[in-house]
Amino acid sequence: MGVTASAPERKEGSPQVYKLAVISDIHANRTALESVMEVIDGLEVDEIICLGDIIGKGAFPGETAEICRRRCSFTLLGNHEDFFLKDPAVDYYRWARKELSPDQLDWIRSLPLYQDRLISGRRMRFCHASPRDVHHRVYPREPDENKLKYFLPVNAGDESPDVLCYGDVHCAYMQGLGGERLLLNAGSVGNPLDLPQAVFLLIRGLFQSSRKAPYSFEFIRVPYDIEKEIRLTLASGIPERGRDIYIQELRQGAHGKRWSYYS
Ligand SMILES: [Fe+2]
Repeated sequence: MGVTASAPERKEGSPQVYKLAVISDIHANRTALESVMEVIDGLEVDEIICLGDIIGKGAFPGETAEICRRRCSFTLLGNHEDFFLKDPAVDYYRWARKELSPDQLDWIRSLPLYQDRLISGRRMRFCHASPRDVHHRVYPREPDENKLKYFLPVNAGDESPDVLCYGDVHCAYMQGLGGERLLLNAGSVGNPLDLPQAVFLLIRGLFQSSRKAPYSFEFIRVPYDIEKEIRLTLASGIPERGRDIYIQELRQGAHGKRWSYYS
């Protein structure tokens, strides 16, 4: 677990600068994921990766799992996948199990905790909540010393990352933490809690290169048809428990129980 996933092959004549799209926290929102994938397709990226929480809350776990399984070079385990695997008695997870094929279930069981990429001479580590634990939540407002623990090696002999990119809190942000360390949150495609718009992260740089070279991070906001997804959700067989809070979150782009994860 945690080894670098096999790099996709470069296309002949492809540009020097590599484009990596990072999606996270889809939460079974099909309309949002399809809208984001349409934008990503227009950008002709070299690779798409997913930081987990493919399922949970929304009405289309089978569809979003399938899109991520087919389109992403790797998908990481999220806390909702972990809950789903360990706590099958919860109404939503019991329902979701029937929406997933045996192949999709096997795939979810196989998801790793973290993966690395070397881009423009920076080791970039991708995880859902922390590289060690999908339930270790780090809010944007937390003190820097808590965030710096993210950058410690996970296993003996591991290298520390220069850049750590996570999901989980559904708020897109970037923060420098001293030296060359950068912490990024990729935000959420299907359950954003900062704005009522999907978001993903686009990284540009030299791929699998130890040469220090320019690189960039760009948060791309994707307005999508929220009311369509709500209509589809209400017409689906999704359990009622938790459904209305989820719908409120889609409309407001804020957590159902508190105003913002930022403050
Ligand atoms: Fe999530």
